Amino acid sequence: MASGSGSDHSFQQIAVIGQGYVGLPLALLFVNKVHTVFGIDVDPGKIEALRNGKSYLPDVMDEEIVSCLATGRYYPTDRFEKVTEADAIIICVPTPLNSSHSPDLTILEKAVSEIGKHLRKGQLVILESSTYPGTTREILQPMLELESGLTAGIDFHIGYSPERIDPGNENYKVEQIPKIISGLTKQCAECAQALYSSVFDMVVRVSSTDVAELTKLLENSYRLINISFMNEIAAICDKLNIDVWEVIEAAKTKPFGFTAFYPGPGIGGHCIPVDPLYLQWRANKFGTESKFIQLSDEVNRSIPNYIVNRVRTLLSRQSEPGHARVLIYGVAYKKDINDVRESPALDLIRLLVEAGLSVSYHDPYIPEIQVNGSTYQSVEINDEMLQHTGCVIIFTDHSAIPLEQIVTHAPIVFDTRNVTAGMHDKHHVYRLGAGLGTS
Ligand SMILES: NC(=O)c1ccc[n+]([C@@H]2O[C@H](COP(=O)([O-])OP(=O)(O)OC[C@H]3O[C@@H](n4cnc5c(N)ncnc54)[C@H](O)[C@@H]3O)[C@@H](O)[C@H]2O)c1
Repeated sequence: MASGSGSDHSFQQIAVIGQGYVGLPLALLFVNKVHTVFGIDVDPGKIEALRNGKSYLPDVMDEEIVSCLATGRYYPTDRFEKVTEADAIIICVPTPLNSSHSPDLTILEKAVSEIGKHLRKGQLVILESSTYPGTTREILQPMLELESGLTAGIDFHIGYSPERIDPGNENYKVEQIPKIISGLTKQCAECAQALYSSVFDMVVRVSSTDVAELTKLLENSYRLINISFMNEIAAICDKLNIDVWEVIEAAKTKPFGFTAFYPGPGIGGHCIPVDPLYLQWRANKFGTESKFIQLSDEVNRSIPNYIVNRVRTLLSRQSEPGHARVLIYGVAYKKDINDVRESPALDLIRLLVEAGLSVSYHDPYIPEIQVNGSTYQSVEINDEMLQHTGCVIIFTDHSAIPLEQIVTHAPIVFDTRNVTAGMHDKHHVYRLGAGLGTS
């Protein structure tokens, strides 16, 4: 059990709220480090899959779940009462934007309200969901106190620890990514440190929950701004007929002062396009703003349109009228994952259809998507269908991409990820940011 004071904190039983891209790998990590974990989720389909040892995430193998279940220390459940049995409760639920691009904390508030009903003295509650600075103090603390009748910092502890997981990235295991931790009080921070030190290789303690919250938003705003800048440079390179990818590789050789970011078909996912807008919203509340975030968001949203214009121009050069068909390879927002949240591929499809083109897609990880009320199913790729497609847009560079087949049979290939680099003899292959002419 968690001790309420001093440095003698030990956390055997953990409740992880939300068993998605963040919560599931975290839950399994705690199980593997000999904790008992209640993996709590409101999605009955996910709970059933987990209980049957089935994963819904490409990064998590079925065998990992099976082996965690076999320890007798992993309990996937939809029962919030299990919170009472936990020493520490970690919240990993979605924090999306609403239709006016402002923070939507309704899912988080629902989860916090449920936790509050089952809270007891001596527990530690950590928020891991990405959010604006102030959320832990202004939302989590009062809601938990109200629901439980307990006092934060005295009866129970609160902290914030941003999740930095990078789905699809095999270079870093979850526990190898340094973990930022913080607490409402010094003792809360000590508890958080004790909890995460038991599973992470390195724990970085910061002075307040606000600092920890803003750290996450800074990291993702930095990526949004730099990637959007690279997309602007890519569009300039198209006009100048210079290969942006070669320019970046050259710039990268400087051993200091330059960090490489790459252009692409727009940034998707639940973090990079979303988190900066949480910061912008918070800044606006304090009468200020980030011009960089504003501009980068605009640039990012404009990229699907840029691709559509490029593809239409390329198609218009074709003589055969039957070629108004476009196949998109990959709709996931990034390589080797099955996530289409905020994927610019959805906008790309909508815009291509509005431009009068017939659109299909193939994604080995995503069997079906909804765009503008229409359902699209992933089609199988074969030589003949490629020959009868006007243009293949390479949107996601999944490792499984049948590049040779696409390049051999498609009349035009528009590559947004530079996977066709070096195919200089293929004059029907065009790369984003590598000039308007041939590749
Ligand atoms: N996906 C990433 O790469 C990533 C990386 C870092 C941080 N984050 C942040 O982590 C948080 C979670 O993101 P995610 O990608 O894991 O989302 P997700 O949608 O994959 O998982 C969230 C899970 O929470 C469940 N859930 C929803 N409401 C609930 C409730 N009231 N009680 C219990 N479970 C509930 C959902 O069913 C879902 O399984 C977000 O704030 C996100 O910004 C995500």
